[in-house]
Amino acid sequence: MEFSIKSGSPEKQRSACIVVGVYETGKLSTAAEALNQSTNQLLTEILRRGDMNGKTGATLLLQNPVDAKADRILLVGLGKEKEFGDKEYRAAISAAIKKLNNIGGADGSIYLTELQVKKRDVTWKIRQAVIASQEVLYRFDRLKSKPEETRRTLRKLTFQVANRTELAAAEAALAEGLAIASGMKLAKDLGNLPGNICTPTHLASEAQQLGKSHGLSVEILDRSDMEKLGMNTLLSVARGSHEPPKFIIMRHNGGAKGAKPIVLIGKGITFDSGGISLKPGPEMDEMKYDMSGAASVLGTLKAAAAMKLPINVIGVIPASENMPGGAATKPGDVITSMSGQTVEILNTDAEGRLVLCDALTYVERFNPECVIDIATLTGACVIALGHIASGLLANNDSLADELLDAGRAACDRAWQLPLWDDYQEQLKSNFADMANIGGRAAGTITAACFLARFAKKYTWAHLDIAGTAWRSGKEKGSTGRPVPLLTHFLLERASRAEKPSAKRKPG
Ligand code: BES
Ligand code: MN
Ligand code: ZN
Repeated sequence: MEFSIKSGSPEKQRSACIVVGVYETGKLSTAAEALNQSTNQLLTEILRRGDMNGKTGATLLLQNPVDAKADRILLVGLGKEKEFGDKEYRAAISAAIKKLNNIGGADGSIYLTELQVKKRDVTWKIRQAVIASQEVLYRFDRLKSKPEETRRTLRKLTFQVANRTELAAAEAALAEGLAIASGMKLAKDLGNLPGNICTPTHLASEAQQLGKSHGLSVEILDRSDMEKLGMNTLLSVARGSHEPPKFIIMRHNGGAKGAKPIVLIGKGITFDSGGISLKPGPEMDEMKYDMSGAASVLGTLKAAAAMKLPINVIGVIPASENMPGGAATKPGDVITSMSGQTVEILNTDAEGRLVLCDALTYVERFNPECVIDIATLTGACVIALGHIASGLLANNDSLADELLDAGRAACDRAWQLPLWDDYQEQLKSNFADMANIGGRAAGTITAACFLARFAKKYTWAHLDIAGTAWRSGKEKGSTGRPVPLLTHFLLERASRAEKPSAKRKPG
């Protein structure tokens, strides 16, 4: 799909379809009103007949509007004008793109991007419009023997802005939106790929390809390298599998030479059967998404490189399968982690923290500015926050606040849970420094408490994306989250790096 930005009068646009908004009260948006004037009150007449109620996301297609230059006019409902915010805006854009994609016509000229959205500027509106469009257009059909029957003609989308003075900001936002959307697409594709294709080896080769196409430097450690480093908790997870584990390191060197890097660590369990503590059968297929943290790191690095962000970012992915087998780790086994701390494995299904803890120790060598790990870590997080917010835990509140802000800006929200020491007691083991599980109570928090023991040397945050990285049911599939949150976080850090004098809000 080709995207472009324009600032032009709706009545003058020659387009296959021109898209304008209508509020629930029947009030026309500015662009709709301009069309209405030039078409002898066509829209007023149609609304009077009651064919369009203006509810959020409702659409009505008008063919061959007399007196208009466009072949079609698509009316999109916006809901109540006073309540027109993030959700309504994104719903209106999505509804419009869905409709445009299902009719004939090569292009669409979209005036929804002109609308006032509560507290949002043109940068936000264009970024979100691109992301929402790519979301609607996303298909994953590479594993079907014949591509699904489609006759799609839509080639070009033009987003209109209200004023020529907004063009430069809108163009920049378009490029950012495209970069973020391409990162999300990569994350979705990898998440949707099944475990027999998306193995640790596959993730490593994806990283290498991304390195070549986007100028990242990539290093892959294999089992023997990990043995030398003493990454025994990671290796203990891989023991039951015939697929070799991989440890992936990717660098985007966009910042000053000595500038401390932001490190992202993504859980890369390409299939989580539970190991000897085998999971129950129903929905076990969904455990192919257990590498969604890794996928979000790949997607975020891709976006950061595409945007040429002037910061240093390192992505790290401990990748393994978690399978039962004759050599698999057993409940009761005690393992010495790379940090030297010993862990009693009481449940082999709590494997995410075991691969992450060695990665957390490994990244100390980078002297990081901060470390963020991203993991589909606990079913408890799905119970606590559902599929709306990712869980956030951190050993530093200002980093946590920054991530919460980034999530709000990106419409990819997180919610903070406490990481109080009081919870650490639940990890007590009679036989090792700690157990790898903390009982049923506060499962998301005790998982983070486990990780915190390996993240003492730097500023660190943990995102539990078990509920947000994919959808179950009819719409089963990967969501590409939290690439939007992470990229917005990096964009904000990059804008600080560019103008070091412009300190964050005083006070
Ligand atoms: N990958 C799972 C977490 C998960 C569960 C993600 C459901 C998405 C949906 C993780 O490895 C796991 O199995 N966690 C266990 C931990 C428990 C054994 C302490 C869980 O949540 O049940
Ligand atoms: Mn598990
Ligand atoms: Zn898992």
